[in-house]
Amino acid sequence: MRLVLIAAALAATIASASAQDYPTRPVNIIVPAAAGGPTDAISRITALAMSKLLGQQITIENVGGAGGTIGTARVVRADPDGYTLLIYHVGLSTAATLYRKLPYDTRSAFAAVGLVTDAPMTIIGRSDLEPNTLKELVAFLKGRTAKTTFGNAGIGSASHLCGMLFMSRVQAQVTTVPYRGTGPVMNDLLGKQIDMTCDQATNTTGPIMGKLVKAYAVTTKGRLKSLPDLPTAHEAGLEGFELGVWHGLFAPKGTPPAIVQKLSTALKAALKDPDLVKRFNDINTEPMPEDRATPEAAQRMLLSEIDRWAPIINAAGEYAD
Ligand code: MLT
Repeated sequence: MRLVLIAAALAATIASASAQDYPTRPVNIIVPAAAGGPTDAISRITALAMSKLLGQQITIENVGGAGGTIGTARVVRADPDGYTLLIYHVGLSTAATLYRKLPYDTRSAFAAVGLVTDAPMTIIGRSDLEPNTLKELVAFLKGRTAKTTFGNAGIGSASHLCGMLFMSRVQAQVTTVPYRGTGPVMNDLLGKQIDMTCDQATNTTGPIMGKLVKAYAVTTKGRLKSLPDLPTAHEAGLEGFELGVWHGLFAPKGTPPAIVQKLSTALKAALKDPDLVKRFNDINTEPMPEDRATPEAAQRMLLSEIDRWAPIINAAGEYAD
């Protein structure tokens, strides 16, 4: 019995010493979407700012597919030692209902670290798509009975969610084309291999400004400063249609609280880094305020978003498995 107690005390001492020294080697953030897309961009900017503060390199590993659930499962299974983390978004919450056989329980799988940003979305089409306004687009979609191709990052992704809400709202159908992320969706939209998508402004601002794609609406309450001519979906005829893509940093459940706290402190400071603020603003998003870059705020968001989307997804009755 004495030996067991001594071993337990020793293990606790080692754990707290390693939490104090953390991180002593590079940290890996898994992004469950393809490189070159919006989640990837946000993660790389955040990782760079956090690595300056933590004094260690932070690598990004893109593990896309199945609406982010493959990469997420990798993080859930990883050692909870602070060296494997996840940056993902609202798709974590929608996948909890869309996938009935996930290999993890989203509600309890993580030690949340903090929220990173809340990105607007834009409804866009290839540059030569016939409609010029959202109203014209709706009429066009209705007249083509699912002939229009809509790229998304798989069932459970933000682009899937936006497309699903938009199509059910306007009572039209499209043929969805799933990719491992909206980076490759954008490539095919620019190459005119697909007709349209709804993607985060963090990925679409450049192509919209360069007139490489046709933009129909932004899903925020107000217009974006850098795209003043682009109407909100509400202004363009979809009353109350608003959608933001919150992103958060998560560690696997069981990560020592001292490490989670250290990461959250670094995240809060990183979100005030002038380079990060500028780079976020350049791609049309904003850092989360300090009081939301916390474990409590991120866990609350995850749970409340599961509850918010579950009835909407169940009413639609379309599941991934
Ligand atoms: C999504 O649609 O969920 C994202 O845009 C995925 C990505 O970052 O590529």
